[in-house]
Amino acid sequence: MLSREDNELLCRVGPGTPMGNVLRQYWVPAALSSELPEAEGSPLRVRLLGENLIAYRTASGAVGLMQSNCPHRGASLFYGRNEGEGLRCVYHGWKFDLGGRCVDMPSEPAETDFKRKVRATAYPCVERGGLVWAYLGPRETPPPMSELEATMLEKVSIQAYQRECNWIQALEGDIDTGHTVFLHLGGVEPDEVPAGTWAKYVLTQPAARYEVADTDFGVMYGACRRAEADTDYWRIANFLFPFYTMVPTGVLGLEIRMRAWIPMDDEHTMFITVTSGAGPAPRQAGRQVVSPPEVLPNTTDWYGRFRLTADARNDYLIDRKSQKTVSYTGIGSIHAQDQAVTESMGPIYDRRQEHLGTSDRMVIRTRKRLIDAAKALRDKGELPPGVDDPKVYAVRSGGVVLPRGADWIEATRELRRAWVKHPGLSRSVLGGVPAV
Ligand code: FES
Ligand SMILES: [Fe+2]
Repeated sequence: MLSREDNELLCRVGPGTPMGNVLRQYWVPAALSSELPEAEGSPLRVRLLGENLIAYRTASGAVGLMQSNCPHRGASLFYGRNEGEGLRCVYHGWKFDLGGRCVDMPSEPAETDFKRKVRATAYPCVERGGLVWAYLGPRETPPPMSELEATMLEKVSIQAYQRECNWIQALEGDIDTGHTVFLHLGGVEPDEVPAGTWAKYVLTQPAARYEVADTDFGVMYGACRRAEADTDYWRIANFLFPFYTMVPTGVLGLEIRMRAWIPMDDEHTMFITVTSGAGPAPRQAGRQVVSPPEVLPNTTDWYGRFRLTADARNDYLIDRKSQKTVSYTGIGSIHAQDQAVTESMGPIYDRRQEHLGTSDRMVIRTRKRLIDAAKALRDKGELPPGVDDPKVYAVRSGGVVLPRGADWIEATRELRRAWVKHPGLSRSVLGGVPAV
């Protein structure tokens, strides 16, 4: 559980909040590059860290991100004309460049220098890994970008889904490997999956032994279960400051993936996954077919991007018959299952009501690191982890079978490093069952 004060500190990310200031130390994914397909194309409404912003691609292909309300009298620049290297407000014609400078003010006499006194809030952007990254922080020169391997590859697949709840509530589901056995695989019997696979290990031993370790990028956990006579199966995964996760799906050493839980505001989250290789495809898990979620077409609304067809308004299209006979939840996709449970807590859960057990050790530690970082920045001006140290992000996660009694941290040091090739590593532990 958390006190009311710590819960507020953890969850609120608007301008000037302690956690908002932590998040603003880093480059953050603001949009997908594919959302701004053309030079001088339509501007895009972006809700990010509690701010209403407008993204646009200039004639030369650069991406700008600026405040929505025109500094003159507040008309939204979403309706602006995307012209050359700037965005022009259609109310009185003021034009702003990428840096937020007013470069044309046709409604004022030519001899006035008023336009030089007007500056809109505009944030620097760069594109990498199919994403538009923005820096909303205090520095004149932004820090280096985190060296997240998945965002530095040529061939990746990207998925984005909006979630209607607080970012940390959503993120906590991703560092909670214990729920996999119930929420996602609860309808699968151990004898429906092959021997020698991760699914067999987790289904026969729902309660794992959890170990947690602080790292220079955030927190890492290992969830241990017996594998064969003298081996254990470890699920190893990461939380990386300020809102990234690497889940234990796949094989440690081969899996290259990053997931970002980016607050749109305190009650809405944009979840972006970047994975090496092809995207997710339907697969069989026991009696259930696990498919990627269906999504609605994007709209131009502040909350119109990357929504699921199954949502709270239609009870996630739950099928009560299927819940008895096929799957544990009766909800169609893994992602919608996660979405249903985390959104059903309400927009921001009151964590005074919780009862945390041993399986929540990673959640407890991650919260503590984030709260400590927010207090250290607020009270002592100390920077949170990794801001000026992009190489600490060059890590991987995944599942691995180790000899019983092995030191899970030492034994996996090389497998957890990014950019290392392991051509001989076997995928047999996956056994064709989707790793979730
Ligand atoms: S409100 Fe934008 S130019 Fe007047
Ligand atoms: Fe999940």
